[in-house]
Amino acid sequence: MTATEPSPAPSGGGGVTDYGVPHVAIIMDGNGRWAKQRGWPRLVGHRKGAERVKEIVRACPDMGVKWLTVYAFSTENWKRSTEEVLGLMSLFARYIQREADALSAEGVRMRFIGDRGPLDGKLRGLMDGIEARTAMNTRLNLTVAINYGGRDELRRAAVSLAAEIAAGRLAPEAITDAVIASHLDTAEVPDPDLVIRTSGETRTSNFLLWQAAYAEYEFTPTLWPDFNPAALAAILAQFGGRERRFGGVKG
Ligand code: IPE
Ligand code: IPE
Ligand code: MG
Repeated sequence: MTATEPSPAPSGGGGVTDYGVPHVAIIMDGNGRWAKQRGWPRLVGHRKGAERVKEIVRACPDMGVKWLTVYAFSTENWKRSTEEVLGLMSLFARYIQREADALSAEGVRMRFIGDRGPLDGKLRGLMDGIEARTAMNTRLNLTVAINYGGRDELRRAAVSLAAEIAAGRLAPEAITDAVIASHLDTAEVPDPDLVIRTSGETRTSNFLLWQAAYAEYEFTPTLWPDFNPAALAAILAQFGGRERRFGGVKG
């Protein structure tokens, strides 16, 4: 390349804008309010929300996002009506069934975090199946949190560490941060760089408590069914200007 030729885009061109934010985690909130504003049942909002997930998943690789983690159902969401809980569970199953081919073709590796024990057997089968089917994909790592709670995840890690100690396979002093991280559901997933919450609420609601220790947070008033790739791009562009210190001092 000569000096007069334009420089390539940071990611190497091809219409890709790499914002330098490899792992984005999203608390997809506001589906119920979105539906209520229109006088529709909450499940309509959830259905619209699932459509948004598809669009965001498709847009991520072109923005340089290699890891996307989305909060779909918390350990506290069982408190909702049976109708809403069952509706969400069948939405998850439908999403996996309908999107399996597209996700495979687009190079998306799908994983799930959270406690699968209480989930319906058919849904668990679909989750296991899509994880296995997409295990070789590398373009985007999509992690969906279902029956996930940060406290519950840490509790389950503590139970398994205690069992290893009781069996004589682990010494208590050998428990480092890395050992704890390797017992979390996210053992294969890097920590998030940016956590976005839609709908204007400014709390974590039990999402990635350990993993987000040094993540940046962005709260947007947009309800999840109104969120789109352009809104994500705007947040990523702004995030690029933030200084992350990880407890150190300004360099
Ligand atoms: C987020 O939207 C989706 C789930 C928690 C499953 P909500 O259903 O919490 O929507 P709001 O917060 O009631 O508007
Ligand atoms: C957090 O949203 C969980 C998900 C987005 C799946 P909630 O709507 O359940 O959280 P709270 O109740 O407002 O804290
Ligand atoms: Mg909510």
